[in-house]
Amino acid sequence: MRVSSTKTLPAPNAYVQAIYGEFADWSYDEEQAPKFRGRWREDAFQKADSAVPLDLEIGTGNGLHFANLAARQPQRLLLGIELKYKPLIQSIRRVRRDGGTNARVARYNAYLLPELFTPGELSDVYIFFPDPWEKSRQHKHRLIQDEFLGRLHEVQRPGSKLVFKTDSQDYFAWAMERFARSPYKILASTTDLHASEYAQTNFITQFERIFIQQGLKIGLAVLLRE
Ligand SMILES: C[S@@+](CC[C@H](N)C(=O)[O-])C[C@H]1O[C@@H](n2cnc3c(N)ncnc32)[C@H](O)[C@@H]1O
Repeated sequence: MRVSSTKTLPAPNAYVQAIYGEFADWSYDEEQAPKFRGRWREDAFQKADSAVPLDLEIGTGNGLHFANLAARQPQRLLLGIELKYKPLIQSIRRVRRDGGTNARVARYNAYLLPELFTPGELSDVYIFFPDPWEKSRQHKHRLIQDEFLGRLHEVQRPGSKLVFKTDSQDYFAWAMERFARSPYKILASTTDLHASEYAQTNFITQFERIFIQQGLKIGLAVLLRE
């Protein structure tokens, strides 16, 4: 599923314009992003050292977690993928406001993201609160699918983690089934993160706060790419 071209939008708003203006060195549209395939470190981050880990957050939203992670791990590189322009720019703006230089964002469709990377190019990957597509006829739209996991596994470095959170218990059970038969090793999982030992070290994202206020339990899975 390709997304519409940003460059040819008939009425680009301030967030769209920021991709090519204020944040031109920090954000990429869906045509620019694939050109970095295999060369993210060198060409997007100007870091020639292939040993520096490059992490990825899928669907950054307003960037609360994204900016926190970038600030907490200045020695690692962080790329964020977002479909919508406002959260895309909010995410990178938050990092820049804190003086961070180790993050970039790209407008890209998460379903296609394995095509952005070569095998072993990525380290840790975060997927927090993707659309749950609750109705059974919509399950085919869920991001966590066997094929997607296989391709993501390929582009991650051995020893990297994949961290998944959702407010949908149905999606959580669906995802766990697929994780269990995927090449990943399940390191940790809980259907109720905030009643678990993992709550202490957990960073609460923007949507997570809303779901907690609604009384929803949060599912967490941490996987290892061996
Ligand atoms: C429910 S929000 C969660 C945001 C953030 N992870 C959080 O926890 O607060 C889901 C985000 O994923 C983005 N998104 C949805 N479908 C996407 C796709 N196919 N590719 C990339 N981003 C997508 C949405 O624009 C939205 O910002």
